[in-house]
Amino acid sequence: MRVRVRVRVRVRVRVRVRVRGSSAWPIVVPMKRILILGGTTEARQLAGKLAARADLEVTLSLAGRTESPVAQGVPVRAGGFGGARGLAAYLKEADTDLLIDATHPYAARISANAAEAAPQAGVPIMALRRPGWEPVEGDRWMLVDTVAGAVQALGAAPRRVFLALGRQEVAVFEAAPQHHYLIRSVDPVEPRLAVPDATYLLSRGPFREADERALLESNGIDIVVSKNSGGEATYGKIAAARVLGIEVIMIRRPSQPDVPSAETVDQLAAMVDHALEPDAERGV
Ligand SMILES: NC(=O)c1ccc[n+]([C@@H]2O[C@H](COP(=O)([O-])OP(=O)(O)OC[C@H]3O[C@@H](n4cnc5c(N)ncnc54)[C@H](OP(=O)(O)O)[C@@H]3O)[C@@H](O)[C@H]2O)c1
Repeated sequence: MRVRVRVRVRVRVRVRVRVRGSSAWPIVVPMKRILILGGTTEARQLAGKLAARADLEVTLSLAGRTESPVAQGVPVRAGGFGGARGLAAYLKEADTDLLIDATHPYAARISANAAEAAPQAGVPIMALRRPGWEPVEGDRWMLVDTVAGAVQALGAAPRRVFLALGRQEVAVFEAAPQHHYLIRSVDPVEPRLAVPDATYLLSRGPFREADERALLESNGIDIVVSKNSGGEATYGKIAAARVLGIEVIMIRRPSQPDVPSAETVDQLAAMVDHALEPDAERGV
């Protein structure tokens, strides 16, 4: 009797062919798999930068909420993992070598899940953390901890309010129907707010200061509600509010888990290099 035994060995390599003069020879490069939790411009930039390397296989993960996300330029998976346990299972199943949390500073749940899942799966984790904005002379910021706190801070008297918070979070403002709201989002706010006076604007950043100033002026806005997102793309409204002497209710950032992190794409890419290079090369 003949017994056939099949053994499957998974070895990840990428074969590159280098051509020099007339001769060509293949180079075998060991591959590392990286999962980037994204949904931000920096995540897309980082993914593009790392995916250009022959030794890295990069997958970008999106929550899957935006109806028409911008092209990411690398393989994408979309939708939740099913909490920290689901993410840990995914990391193991996909044979991931490194997890990068490059989500938005207000995406607190997925960041907490990532910090919990990575050690469960035995996968190193690092985070790309965009620094927040700091108030400068002329800014009239009122700091609050939550979106509900922002609703309270608007006060009882009717105001003309600019909301650029993302469509998931504007429903809370139904608790203060006396104000006029100008609501900007990438995808339509559905259902519309149960308030008598709201104008909806569909637009995707980046937003220039001059355009933001024109928007605030033409709509007679007297108060802006904002997250402290950091970065250039959405700072225009903050700078415009300063120039116009308009108040800004700034919602403080949620706390984030303590994992190794960098503030810029280049810094994080350097951390990836260091984390993935063989121990011998690092002199360990
Ligand atoms: N919050 C903001 O102001 C904001 C602004 C701009 C962009 N974003 C981006 O939009 C996405 C959702 O933000 P959020 O504040 O709703 O997040 P969140 O409250 O922290 O996450 C809620 C759930 O959505 C899933 N999820 C979130 N980000 C994911 C990702 N990158 N890949 C796969 N699943 C993800 C996870 O589901 P499971 O538990 O099932 O895994 C998570 O528990 C994030 O990717 C974030 O970077 C958020």
